[in-house]
Amino acid sequence: MKIGVLGSGSMGSGIAQVAASAGHEVVIFDNHASAMDRARQNMETLFSRLVEKGTYSSGESKDILGRIRWADRMHGLHGIGLLIEAIVEDLSAKRVEFEQLEDVVGPDCIMATNTSSLSIAGIAAACKKPERVIGIHFFNPAPLMKLVEIIPAIQTAPEVVKRAEDLIKSWGKQTVLAKDTPGFIVNRIARPFYGEALRIYEEGLADPATIDWAMKEIGKFRMGPFELMDYIGHDVNFAVTETVFQAFFYDPRYRPSFSQKRLVEAGYLGRKTGRGFYDHTPGAQAPIPVQDKKLGKDIVHRIICMLINEAADAFYLKIASREDIDLAMTTGVNYPKGLLKWADEIGIARCVETLDRLYEEYHEDRYRCSPQLRKMTREVSKFYE
Ligand SMILES: NC(=O)c1ccc[n+]([C@@H]2O[C@H](COP(=O)([O-])OP(=O)(O)OC[C@H]3O[C@@H](n4cnc5c(N)ncnc54)[C@H](O)[C@@H]3O)[C@@H](O)[C@H]2O)c1
Repeated sequence: MKIGVLGSGSMGSGIAQVAASAGHEVVIFDNHASAMDRARQNMETLFSRLVEKGTYSSGESKDILGRIRWADRMHGLHGIGLLIEAIVEDLSAKRVEFEQLEDVVGPDCIMATNTSSLSIAGIAAACKKPERVIGIHFFNPAPLMKLVEIIPAIQTAPEVVKRAEDLIKSWGKQTVLAKDTPGFIVNRIARPFYGEALRIYEEGLADPATIDWAMKEIGKFRMGPFELMDYIGHDVNFAVTETVFQAFFYDPRYRPSFSQKRLVEAGYLGRKTGRGFYDHTPGAQAPIPVQDKKLGKDIVHRIICMLINEAADAFYLKIASREDIDLAMTTGVNYPKGLLKWADEIGIARCVETLDRLYEEYHEDRYRCSPQLRKMTREVSKFYE
């Protein structure tokens, strides 16, 4: 089957690479010719490095690159069996493209969007055949990240879901099925990893270096929240938080932080500008964490309980299955353990006690415990029996 990719930015190029590596003919189109030239050059450079590293032989590399065609008009996408759109994160731009593309791609083509935060139903509604529209959400960088969230809209036909799942699995990816709700699985459940760390910092309980130390040393996360935000870029991370907050009708659980907003306003975007929570200029001294075990354990426990609360609530609201929620967080953002499994290990009653203690202290809705955890405490049950 021929695959079409709309948009040749970091995601579109990565997805084209994945599909071509899996043996598909790929056509890619971007409405900015200069962006497409850049993407094409970047991909050629990348593949010559992969050949040098021994990932591919020069023959394999030539075959993969030879399967990718860079179209100069949208009509180049004619005859494809699956379209994956990865243009700017803007609902009206995506709707315009879907409406136009429907006449180009032919009647049986599945039309997928890689959106991180927009409503799939809203994009599907722009089409005459909304039942063929679905969310196929890759993570960055697409060739390396194993997870792909599959998000049917309320209009999507069950047969389209099955075809999309089978195809993406055949590319060696791990799929999870998510409901069409803000942030899907990963970008919803991960919010407290940043949000609660920022809150702990704002309250003056610990500085970023100490919180990062605790989450890595004690929590066994690969990166601490502040390091990760500096790496992602505060503009990008803040925009996701803000979008999720608005999309949840301003639920205080997702409220963004002023400290991060000020960094964005100051242009302290993290690594890419040389300064974020940390100083990234060459030769800068890294701040020394307060390596206090008791403080570190308290920080980790508070952040984990908030993450567990999100995961339990997503399960309660049937956003995804228990297994898919745990898989999404371990393969999409490399958490050391699935959060629902982690809840069982800590003890559901203990998680509820922590959340209630926080609620008692602050009287903020942000700390409200999910009914799922309360019910399980009453029933003395676990996520995995
Ligand atoms: N970057 C990430 O970490 C990430 C992860 C998962 C999903 N996403 C989603 O993937 C999509 C693309 O993100 P990105 O980071 O690759 O963006 P990007 O800005 O790197 O690339 C977007 C590309 O689309 C092109 N484009 C814009 N409008 C177009 C149109 N109407 N027709 C054709 N091409 C058009 C641009 O020229 C640009 O080359 C967004 O919806 C984003 O939310 C991004």
